This record gives sequence, structure tokens and C-alpha cells, in this order.
Amino acid sequence: MAPSTATQASPTKKKAKASKSTKKPALTAKTADKHVLYQLSVQAPEQDSKTYARWFKTYTGRALRSFREDFCGTAVLSCHHIRNHRENTAVGVDLDRPTLDWGIKNNVNALLNEEQKKRLQLIESDVLKVTSPLVDCVMALNFSYQVFKTRKELGKYIKTVYKSLKPGGVFYMDALGGPDVIQANTDRTRHKGFIYEWEQRSFDPINHRFVCAIHFEFKDGSRMQDAFIYDWRMWTLPELRELFVEAGFDDVHVLWEGTEKKTLTGNGIFRRKEVGDMDEAWISLVVGRKK
Ligand SMILES: C[S@@+](CC[C@H](N)C(=O)[O-])C[C@H]1O[C@@H](n2cnc3c(N)ncnc32)[C@H](O)[C@@H]1O
Repeated sequence: MAPSTATQASPTKKKAKASKSTKKPALTAKTADKHVLYQLSVQAPEQDSKTYARWFKTYTGRALRSFREDFCGTAVLSCHHIRNHRENTAVGVDLDRPTLDWGIKNNVNALLNEEQKKRLQLIESDVLKVTSPLVDCVMALNFSYQVFKTRKELGKYIKTVYKSLKPGGVFYMDALGGPDVIQANTDRTRHKGFIYEWEQRSFDPINHRFVCAIHFEFKDGSRMQDAFIYDWRMWTLPELRELFVEAGFDDVHVLWEGTEKKTLTGNGIFRRKEVGDMDEAWISLVVGRKK
């Protein structure tokens, strides 16, 4: 948690001078690193890695040991999975070399010791091409699979994941929807030193092409415009469930997020549900188990 200004408000002049010299300079579009800002805005990998392991344990009765993170980006989730248990292994797959390199420098080298690094494998590849090593669980998060624009391509991806799982292994894939999500809109969230913007730029109801972007704005007014752009097809839950079944997955179901009564926003608690709610915006996960 960032210290509030109240805790810094009454130093002596001498102390104020000392703290001034150690104070980090304010972030600007020129000095900030977009991957750092993305991780601060979009991810909570330490907590999420534990939540996902708990879901897996509740569902299968087994501890989650071997894990694959598709579209891993900077692989920060994989790093935390490795740190959670001395037998945990992780495979991260991403096709973008510079993003993987950033992850090695800033996450792998910062979070893992030499022994832990041996339990992490980063694969620079299209996720459509990776089927080994076999793992207990594959996760495709932050809607990245929506780069696949045709049923044929997405079906191929889901079948590739099926082949990559050990018997009894589980695939988790997140999804989003609701009327708010298909409106042109920009959401602004304040963080320490910057504002995170999520722009829903366009949605085509005919082919479900969905273009979004992430921007960052700083205290000096400078902006990192289009730090990340996503050109996706928004897939629906019925389509995803059908593709899971076609790929051979068993017990295909949806984990639906509950609603915080006061704020009417998601409460972070996902439960298996057969009937969803008519929420303005929702996030859920499709789950399938390999027979
Ligand atoms: C939205 S980021 C996801 C980062 C991180 N996994 C997260 O949950 O926030 C999408 C990532 O998917 C990668 N990507 C896009 N298409 C891919 C493909 N076909 N195979 C592997 N990686 C892909 C991009 O390089 C990018 O790093």
C-alpha cells in the first residue's frame, strides 16, 4: 500500500530535506516502463497464483504442480507459481521475444533464485504449436485467445491445449461480456503516480471484432497513448463451451463472478453456475477437464 500524504505531513525541515533527496522522481511518459505499469494496473500475480492453485485443488482434489501460462507476456504469474512451492513447475508461452526478454530481466531474475529458475521454461512460440511438456493445468488469461478470429483457429488452439494436458488436467480460459463492454468507452483508474485507461474503441456486432487499447497518463500531463492495442474477436460463452466439448473436454462449465452489493462491481469470487446474471459487464472463466 502506498504511504498516504498524512503520514508524511509533519517532518522537521531537516527531515523534509532528507526525504526530498531520496524521493523518486515523478513518472512521466518518457521515464515510465509500460510493462511495469501494465503489471501494476492489470495483474495481481502473487494473489492470483494462489487463487488458481486453490481452484484446481477444490476441483480435482490434487495440488497444482505443473502449470502452463499461455500468452504469458512477461511471465510474472509463472514466476509466482514457482515461488509458491518447491515442487512447482511452470511453462510460459508467448510469441513476442522482446516481451519475454523484459520478463526474464525484470521478473525471472528479480523473483527467482537459481534453483527456482530451473523449474521455469519460457517458450517463444505461437500457442498453436506447443503441446509439450504435458502439464496439470493450462491457463489463458486476460482474454488473449481472442486474437483468434475464426472458429477454426480458436478450435485448433483449444485442441492444442487438450493435447498438452495430462489425463485429468484442467484448462481455464477467461471471458468477458455484457452490454457495457460493447459500448465505446474509456475507463480511468487512478494508481500511485499515473492513471490507467482502458479504452473500448470499437465493437462490430456483425463479426464481433473488438478493438481495445490501454493508455497511461501522468501527473505532468504527459501520456503514453496506445501503450497496448488489442484487435480481438469477442467470443461468447456458448461458443467457448461448444469448442471445449468439440476438443474433447469433459465436465465443461463456467465459473461466474459474484457481485459486490454496495458497488455492483465484481467481488472476485467465482462459483460454478449454470445460469448467469444480466450484469452490465461481467468476467467469467470457462473450465474443461481432460478425460
Ligand atoms: C494481453 S497480453 C497477456 C499478458 C498476460 N498473460 C496477462 O494475463 O496479462 C497478450 C500476450 O499474448 C501474446 N500473444 C498474442 N498472440 C499469441 C500467440 N498466437 N501465441 C503466443 N502468444 C501470443 C502477445 O505477445 C502478448 O504478450
